[in-house]
Amino acid sequence: MIVTIDGPAGSGKSTAARGLARRLQFDFLDTGSMYRAVAWQCLQRSIDLHDAAAVAECAHAMQLQLDQQHVYVDGRDVTNEVRLPEVSHGSSVVASNPEVRRELAGRQREFASGRNIVTEGRDQGTAVFPQAECKFYVTANAEERAARRQRELHERHEQAAPFDDILRQIRERDERDKTRIADPLRAATDAIRVDTSGLSPEAVLDQLESIVRQRMAAK
Ligand code: DC
Repeated sequence: MIVTIDGPAGSGKSTAARGLARRLQFDFLDTGSMYRAVAWQCLQRSIDLHDAAAVAECAHAMQLQLDQQHVYVDGRDVTNEVRLPEVSHGSSVVASNPEVRRELAGRQREFASGRNIVTEGRDQGTAVFPQAECKFYVTANAEERAARRQRELHERHEQAAPFDDILRQIRERDERDKTRIADPLRAATDAIRVDTSGLSPEAVLDQLESIVRQRMAAK
């Protein structure tokens, strides 16, 4: 069974997807970390992120491995490095490259082959797994997402930017994700919309789990 969870940054979808995979004992796929890994590799190699052909070639050639917690590029654990701000920014640039999307979508389908998975991203229910049995579109308002992001940075003891800067970055990233030509962020017509504003992670998880279990029972 394939469960897709799409939505904007900071909507709570990552926490929900990870928790759901754990509760269902499904494998978990964080597709954002794949775009981040491509950006990371390009930055390492001083490849101009706007040079579409060079970035696509890099994505094609790189060895990319994911397990439930980590992401590895050419055997190196880059889990923490791909969360750095310059990589976050770069990931949304490389994510607008259609060749990169095609490459990573292929790898995502390969990962899912023969498994039960919960996969999270922006295009999982629309472009990569249109046949998925259960699709969610998870959102929250931009202010709440910015507040969550600021808390997360505090918890990681990273220098947190002022709230207004975080909010602006979130809005810019949303705009890029929603307006790009290739597989823009949008809800699949058959996705269940979940607004997490004001909800605890546990409450979101309970809601998702009960829907998936109903679908599993109906299969
Ligand atoms: O979810 P995230 O913040 O780790 O994603 C990083 C970037 O990759 C973000 O700009 C959106 C993009 N992305 C995408 O275009 N498609 C996906 N399936 C996952 C992420």
